Amino acid sequence: MIRAHVHGAQGRMGSAACAAIEAAPDIELCGRSGRHDDLAQALRRSRPDVLVEFTVPDAVERHLTVAIDAEVHVVSGTTGLPVELAARLGERAAQRGVAILLAPNFAIGVLLMQRFARQAAAWFSDVEIVERHHERKLDAPSGTARSTARQIAASLRALPPRRRAEPTGEGGGRGFVEAGVPIHALRLPGSLAHQEVIFGSPGETLTIRHDTLDRGAFMPGVLHAVRRIHTRRGLVDSLEVFLEDPP
Ligand SMILES: NC(=O)c1ccc[n+]([C@@H]2O[C@H](COP(=O)([O-])OP(=O)(O)OC[C@H]3O[C@@H](n4cnc5c(N)ncnc54)[C@H](OP(=O)(O)O)[C@@H]3O)[C@@H](O)[C@H]2O)c1
Repeated sequence: MIRAHVHGAQGRMGSAACAAIEAAPDIELCGRSGRHDDLAQALRRSRPDVLVEFTVPDAVERHLTVAIDAEVHVVSGTTGLPVELAARLGERAAQRGVAILLAPNFAIGVLLMQRFARQAAAWFSDVEIVERHHERKLDAPSGTARSTARQIAASLRALPPRRRAEPTGEGGGRGFVEAGVPIHALRLPGSLAHQEVIFGSPGETLTIRHDTLDRGAFMPGVLHAVRRIHTRRGLVDSLEVFLEDPP
């Protein structure tokens, strides 16, 4: 049995993670805590192998430092972290012989969408991304769309020069351009998180589409990470490293 402790357990993602862990036959939910608990003390009581963390970006460094110093592996899904934080915490984790996963998206389908987009990028002359989210989402375009664009651009690097879309339309009419890839962001009630990566070449298009319909989408990825995190040391910055090792 793997022992897992959830911090942020009262939140939407934290409570979904608690329920998913309780339903998993090979993982024991040995502790749960939140904003008003002393995490160091809670970890001493629950003695977990893995801390699952879904809270707020400002508190992540404190939570992860406590877990690393207690020699507990971490699976964190809190988004909006400062870029330099990952390297700093990763170094500390490596020194303590534990691993920390900072995963901005636990939906396995999103990781596969990005992987397929990297593959297709070698074969099409043009690509654009359309992402759609609920109207309360503050950032636009989404982190997932920007990361997809960067991954596509990176997989183009070794290839012969090709036509890249340039931003031309007035007032952003041709979208936001990340790494040469135009991204179009829609914010509409009735949506959760959706993305299409549309490739075009003369005579054909290819659309790779992912829809997140509810928080259940994230739980297989969270459980998979809890089961695999002990195989690594230091920083793991995407769930993708564990995709080679399916359940
Ligand atoms: N990686 C992924 O796949 C993925 C998917 C969805 C969401 N997320 C991210 O996960 C995070 C949580 O999202 P959510 O929807 O669960 O938010 P939420 O419902 O607001 O839950 C956040 C939880 O964190 C707690 N919290 C706030 N400040 C804290 C602190 N200083 N110390 C300890 N706990 C604190 C909150 O406690 P109170 O209730 O007392 O305020 C609440 O229980 C966000 O960053 C979100 O973007 C990631």
